[in-house]
Amino acid sequence: MPFIEENKSLKNYNTFGLDVNADYFTSIHSIDELISVLKDDHFSDTSKMFLGGGSNVLLTKDFHGLIIHNCLKGIEVVSRDADFVMVKAASGEGWHDFVLYCIENGFGGVENMSLIPGSVGAGPMQNIGAYGVEMKDVFYELEALNLETLQLEKFNNADCKFGYRESVFKNEKKNKYFIASVTFRLNLNATVNTTYGAIQQQLQTMNVEHPTIKNVSDAVIAIRSSKLPNPAVLGNSGSFFKNPEITSIQYERLKNDFPNVVAYPTNNGYKLAAGWLIEQCGWKGKVVGNCGSHKDQALVLVNYGNASGDEIYQLALAIQQSVLDKFQVTIIPEVNIV
Ligand code: EPU
Repeated sequence: MPFIEENKSLKNYNTFGLDVNADYFTSIHSIDELISVLKDDHFSDTSKMFLGGGSNVLLTKDFHGLIIHNCLKGIEVVSRDADFVMVKAASGEGWHDFVLYCIENGFGGVENMSLIPGSVGAGPMQNIGAYGVEMKDVFYELEALNLETLQLEKFNNADCKFGYRESVFKNEKKNKYFIASVTFRLNLNATVNTTYGAIQQQLQTMNVEHPTIKNVSDAVIAIRSSKLPNPAVLGNSGSFFKNPEITSIQYERLKNDFPNVVAYPTNNGYKLAAGWLIEQCGWKGKVVGNCGSHKDQALVLVNYGNASGDEIYQLALAIQQSVLDKFQVTIIPEVNIV
């Protein structure tokens, strides 16, 4: 049974840097440790919350329960053939550390997702993605502990029901599983994906004509570092809202009223750039009390040091309302609000 701390500050465990307390806190290093915590009678009626990198959560108040901090580590090659390698990573590994491991070993597929904060286990949870690649493109399977039966179960790509920042673990299986490990199918003869305009521009700036996975990773790191604040310096959790998806009819109406609207066609209609909508409402770079919308990326809300989670939440609600008033479009948080 791992050590349980009482009345623990979570300031160092969430990338917004919010100083809320948890009644109880423990770190798990194996599935057996997790099972022993879950079986402990002392905590059987206590609400529990898992924390990985804490990069996708807005803690608005003290947590009257037990925080289980995921410290499961380990990366191993499970199998390989001439073209592909299967790599299994424990869910508590840092996502970017895993990307760097893949690049060092010449395993292609995750380089466009360099520098995304958070842990490996959070990846499938919300089907993380960036610069034209999503988790679902490299995902093979995961193992998750069923929190009721305490048995490990496997989920393949289809089982996870991946969508845009969505999976079964955010919907019908919410709070029912703990993701223990993720196995990726990576490319040994990688062809890089540079379809995203910003990557092409960055590679040109870097004078790279025939990019390797390392070059693409470096380009993504340069782009992200230039416009996304580093959570270690300025508290944030990346994009606060999802880019809203609308029908073609809604899009035509919007385009008529706002000819410069930034949108991308999808299978069912259009996806709007939420950052553009928020900027048009005058929020970009605006400071409200101890928080605000970032000066280089309006979609990122930041904590200037002493904000409370509730203050950031109120800002998010005000932004959401003004986008609704101006564009009749609802933007929905990507971040979990607790
Ligand atoms: N834009 C503005 N003003 C802003 C920000 C953006 O006008 O303040 C417009 C620009 O036209 C820009 C476009 O929006 O070209 C798209 O912006 P960006 O390339 O920064 O991407 P995004 O749609 O805002 C998404 C993901 C990011 C991911 C990038 C790159 C979501 C919610 N966010 O952001 O993911 O890194 O694409 O692929 O889908 C995250 O999920 O936390 C995240 C950072």
